[in-house]
Amino acid sequence: MDIRLLDAEPAAEERSAIDELLGPPESSWEGGERGSARDAHTAEFGGRETRERRHLLLPALQALQARVGFLTEGGFNYACERLGVPPADAWGVATFYAMLATTPRPRRVVHVCDDIACRAKGAAALCHALEKRAGAPLLHEPNGNHVELDPGKPAWMHSPCLGLCDVAPAALVVEAGAKVVERSIGNATLESLSALLEGGEPPRDHADRPQIGRSAAVGDAGLLKRVGKVDPASLAAYRAAGGYAALARAIELGAEGVIREVTAAKLLGRGGAAFPTGRKWEAVRSQAASPHYLVCNADESEPGTFKDRVLLTEDPFAIVEAMTIGAFATGASHGYLYLRAEYPLAFERMQGAILQARAAGLLGKNILGSGLSYDMEIRRGAGAYICGEETALFESIEGKRGEPRNKPPFPVSRGLFKKPTAANNVETFANILPIVLGGGAAFASVGTAQSTGTRLFCLSGTVQRPGVYEVPFGATLRELIALAGGVPKGRTLKAVLLGGAAGGFVRADELDLKLTHEDTRAAGATLGSGVVVLFDETVDLRDAILRIAAFFRDESCGQCVPCRVGTVRQEEALHRIAAGKTRGGVKRELALLDEIGDAMKDGSICGLGQTAYSAVESAIKRLGLYADGATA
Ligand SMILES: Cc1cc2nc3c(=O)[nH]c(=O)nc-3n(C[C@H](O)[C@H](O)[C@H](O)COP(=O)(O)O)c2cc1C
Ligand code: SF4
Ligand code: FES
Repeated sequence: MDIRLLDAEPAAEERSAIDELLGPPESSWEGGERGSARDAHTAEFGGRETRERRHLLLPALQALQARVGFLTEGGFNYACERLGVPPADAWGVATFYAMLATTPRPRRVVHVCDDIACRAKGAAALCHALEKRAGAPLLHEPNGNHVELDPGKPAWMHSPCLGLCDVAPAALVVEAGAKVVERSIGNATLESLSALLEGGEPPRDHADRPQIGRSAAVGDAGLLKRVGKVDPASLAAYRAAGGYAALARAIELGAEGVIREVTAAKLLGRGGAAFPTGRKWEAVRSQAASPHYLVCNADESEPGTFKDRVLLTEDPFAIVEAMTIGAFATGASHGYLYLRAEYPLAFERMQGAILQARAAGLLGKNILGSGLSYDMEIRRGAGAYICGEETALFESIEGKRGEPRNKPPFPVSRGLFKKPTAANNVETFANILPIVLGGGAAFASVGTAQSTGTRLFCLSGTVQRPGVYEVPFGATLRELIALAGGVPKGRTLKAVLLGGAAGGFVRADELDLKLTHEDTRAAGATLGSGVVVLFDETVDLRDAILRIAAFFRDESCGQCVPCRVGTVRQEEALHRIAAGKTRGGVKRELALLDEIGDAMKDGSICGLGQTAYSAVESAIKRLGLYADGATA
């Protein structure tokens, strides 16, 4: 334990929030009443059991925050005591996550997105107007424990992408209490946000009616076929629509047969790194260590990405079924769905799907009489983009700061809780069902030889019909944009951000680019997580670049120097150019940016630092954004 023990006591509601999660304390060693004389000398509930519950630290802190709005000293102290975690250690965890507050916050907080897609729809001006009307936003930085604040008066904060870019400008309202209220707000206006800040009732969740589209080649099939047609809250409806036929088929095929089909399908992971799923699953399956774990990466925090949200909210049983097949193939007995904190409706729907599947014997012991025992749970993130990186995600589930690990060892041999782990993106799992049902060869016949199947793209920004669109790999960017109606009539497309903040810009004269891994790689671009943000002439691209630079500076976990310092220096140089205060002219600043970019690419241990210069670089070199040497 720490040398400095906290003496603050939890309030009754804080104590009960923790006890609801952990059960009542079993001895005075973990925050209970002092019991027998023996209890005064020995821990009845032993140290090993306590240490094994370390992974519950983040859920415990989240439970406190959800109950009273922030982590008070007393509540924090009680969580540490119950879990046997030194307060200094837990403090490092609490301050890592943006959605956790270690300084006072009112019960209701409205998080207003000012990231790239929302900015293209006027979010910067909206925040400015909101500040004038409702006062300054709360800051993220810890600023002491003595902030004067009326807990009953709602406040607002800036937020990075909330994964609601299809209904930009977007916001998220969170209200702490005995029953926490969380609602995604789409098409936010000054009036709707002001009403929320004046205590008005939050409206329905705007994540619930997503715009989707498909190319003619996909037709009524594809990954979105149940969206809007099958009740996402009903297992019976899912089964009536053919649900769980894939699991039955997987059991017929056997675990090796499933991996054979996934390998024949040449399925590449949809989370950004495009790793072959069959190879990953085989590697996990062949590990002698046990248990094996399965992780569905639903952190989806790349600015401009919201496809996983649509799958999770509209087709939750498909993800549960696909994960069950994944567990069968990899020999995993337990699975985690790591869901970003900002997706309340997805949480509700996925939780509902898991409970119904369990009640029907589709999770648990001896599923469908096959001998397969597998169960799963949801872990919610707490506002950290880096936790989408798979090893940072493992750290987060284990109750630590979400800092990426050095690789090797790779997760297939040493992942979550140091055990063999298969981690896949939500969309990757969604592809498992058609592969198992239709066979790997049929799947591989769609798309191109190297990029097989279809892909979900998230169209946002200045596009007529923002939404999730599905096309086979090999469709052109022009065809994809046409599905969403292109830019509004009378406007001109200036640039497209492809692949997200970690991706890059392409020009309006490059729309014949084929959307495959090989074509984008050859063109010096990337598909990343399927982001396609359109910018017409009404959008200030230099402002978008500054926002991207701020995003990386904010989200760097700070573990390695090139990324921690480089993201700061990058943003500073861009600000100097924007303010006309360059050190030796724009050309010199651009050369400096290039040097910083190289250092981040070469010296960072994870993809965040390695890609933090990508979008900036493409804006400089591909769009020629600063080529005129002008500073503003
Ligand atoms: C900074 C960073 C953020 C990431 N965020 C996500 C994410 O939100 N969702 C995701 O599936 N993969 C994300 N990834 C990729 C994961 O590390 C990992 O490659 C992926 O989950 C593997 O699944 P797949 O093989 O199905 O693509 C991220 C990677 C980095 C470096
Ligand atoms: S590259 Fe950046 S985000 Fe990744 S581990 Fe290093 S400091 Fe953290
Ligand atoms: S929700 Fe605002 S940019 Fe994605």
